[in-house]
Amino acid sequence: MPYPTERLRRLRRTGALRGLVQETRLHRSALVYPLFVQEGKGVVQEIPSMPGISRFSPDRLQAEITEIASLGLISVILFGIPAKKDPKGTAAYQETGVVQQAIRTIKKEAPEMIVITDVCLCEYTSHGHCGVLDGEEIDNDATLDLLARMAVSHADAGADMVAPSDMMDGRVRALRSALDKAGFSSVPIMSYAAKYASAFYGPFREAAESTPAFGDRRSYQMDPPNRNEAIREIALDIEEGADIVMVKPALAYLDVLREARECFLHPLAAYNVSGEYAMVKAAAARGWIDEDRIVAEILMSIKRAGADLILTYFAKQVARDL
Ligand code: PBG
Repeated sequence: MPYPTERLRRLRRTGALRGLVQETRLHRSALVYPLFVQEGKGVVQEIPSMPGISRFSPDRLQAEITEIASLGLISVILFGIPAKKDPKGTAAYQETGVVQQAIRTIKKEAPEMIVITDVCLCEYTSHGHCGVLDGEEIDNDATLDLLARMAVSHADAGADMVAPSDMMDGRVRALRSALDKAGFSSVPIMSYAAKYASAFYGPFREAAESTPAFGDRRSYQMDPPNRNEAIREIALDIEEGADIVMVKPALAYLDVLREARECFLHPLAAYNVSGEYAMVKAAAARGWIDEDRIVAEILMSIKRAGADLILTYFAKQVARDL
């Protein structure tokens, strides 16, 4: 029965009624907070293009972790910035590496915290690409061994989950088999399955000092116009053994997220990336937008599009209100 019998405004009249029929809800446990850890001592350095986000040396992580845990957040994802970079990203898979140190510190401080690690070479290679080079090309299969070593060394240090973000073909299978062989068959893989070659990663590359020295990442990250290909990428990663699959970035790719939700039953993650964060912070600093409302609306849109979990630099600030 249409109007005047049907009146959708009836259930919008009060906050309580709106709460009763709210379709999408956001909870702290669905948020993953990214942390940049930098090799060295005594470092707490704010990232200019990401106000409120800092790089920490492992010895300065304690207070930050305590705060994250006290806000009710249950998981973090770690990105490492080594002191020395080389063509093969050696610092990525050393027992004494910065991420390996950080994992041990966090596990000591907050044993319950789910520690996820980003597995990719770009922060560790002198050329800034996500794989090893053969001339000016990325050597896919030679990269797989190094990624597998990196994942195993993270698991060895106590990581609860590994998250390959390199976009090499076959990396999920390579990680799964290396982890299993090393006795880590219970460590899940969250794959950055549909990761686009995006300008929205700009501030992250400043934070992680990982801008490629030449060329760009378009020979391995996905082409933004493609949606069918995203579904193929996700299907392959699931076949190879991914436990959680991700779409990244989030906001310009909500259609991909929705389609992934409809095609797959696996837990689905979305990465609300650095550029999405920086734009909000910049506009808010000028008083052009209502930051709290914008952030709530953005995170809700990602959830509504189909994400089960959201990696977001806003996690700490919104956890207070959830
Ligand atoms: C590493 C990696 C990147 C991001 C996450 N893992 C950068 C890139 O691919 O260039 C981006 C995260 C962000 O922008 O917040 N490969």
